[in-house]
Amino acid sequence: MQVFVTGGSGFVGTTLCARLRQSGHAVTVLTRSEKGAARLPAGVEACVGDPTAPGDWQEAAAACDAAVNLAGANLFNRWSEEYKALIRSSRVDTTRNLVAALARHQGEAPVLVSASAVGYYGPRGDEELSEQSPPGDDFLAKVCLEWEAEARAAAKFGARVACTRFGIVLGDGGGALGQMLPVFKLGLGGPLGSGRQWFSWIHQEDLVAALLFCLESQVSGALNCCAPHPVRNREFTRTLGRVLGRPALLPAPGFAVRLALGEMGSVVLTGQRVIPQALTRAGFSFKFPELEGALRDLLA
Ligand SMILES: NC(=O)c1ccc[n+]([C@@H]2O[C@H](COP(=O)([O-])OP(=O)(O)OC[C@H]3O[C@@H](n4cnc5c(N)ncnc54)[C@H](OP(=O)(O)O)[C@@H]3O)[C@@H](O)[C@H]2O)c1
Repeated sequence: MQVFVTGGSGFVGTTLCARLRQSGHAVTVLTRSEKGAARLPAGVEACVGDPTAPGDWQEAAAACDAAVNLAGANLFNRWSEEYKALIRSSRVDTTRNLVAALARHQGEAPVLVSASAVGYYGPRGDEELSEQSPPGDDFLAKVCLEWEAEARAAAKFGARVACTRFGIVLGDGGGALGQMLPVFKLGLGGPLGSGRQWFSWIHQEDLVAALLFCLESQVSGALNCCAPHPVRNREFTRTLGRVLGRPALLPAPGFAVRLALGEMGSVVLTGQRVIPQALTRAGFSFKFPELEGALRDLLA
């Protein structure tokens, strides 16, 4: 397959592109800068352009059989009103422009695998959530709804569309684990707020395998991309401390988390208990279903 990837220079994208190449696919990545292009794995073609605006890049996208849509401004930041507008436009406008490009694809209908997040469900306490659960109504949930609606529009011209709702991705050299490790390695980590909030996570290798599965099988619609065993924040903290051989007992009070992170703080103090029902029913199997095995693999 000829696969077009937005956000391919990022934490998930670089691993995905390397894996797509290993599986024999041709890969073109849309990046906003030469710096992004320099991060791409060997054998991946770069196309420089702004995904939030229509442009020449859409011709390269239209020529591909499939697209994986990962672009989006990083969420781990203080959310000013201006930054919230960027979080939204970097996902919603990008997806609209990508779908407009795919509509011009000649020949067999294209495939679109588009990222979304378990933030779709909003803060939900202990409720077990599958793809059929209704969306939340906080800022992130509304962004995810719009993001997915733009992707689903591709079904109107016959594309097969998979909206992949990622849990927190645990991987090498970045993401949430990259942010937490320095503190935990010093023995200064601990639960956030009450520590009772659920944490739906996925090993990066399983996420990349799930994205490939979505490209190569016939699945469509919403698919939760998170391990089958979510944990509470308290258990996550304890497991990470044990794997690192460090104490992880210093709690970060909720007010301090909110003070440091603003509205993003509320997101990490709540959370969702999400189950990958659609992927499991479609026959996908996780290499790292349990947290301890995933962390031991990543931190060995
Ligand atoms: N990592 C997680 O735990 C997680 C969890 C849930 C959902 N997700 C979603 O999955 C996607 C990929 O995640 P990731 O962790 O790989 O993200 P990432 O490392 O932050 O990479 C995202 C890519 O998006 C592009 N980008 C950044 N800011 C942009 C902007 N303002 N406008 C347009 N493009 C922009 C960048 O590419 P260039 O600089 O090359 O243009 C960047 O490489 C994101 O949409 C994210 O929200 C991630």
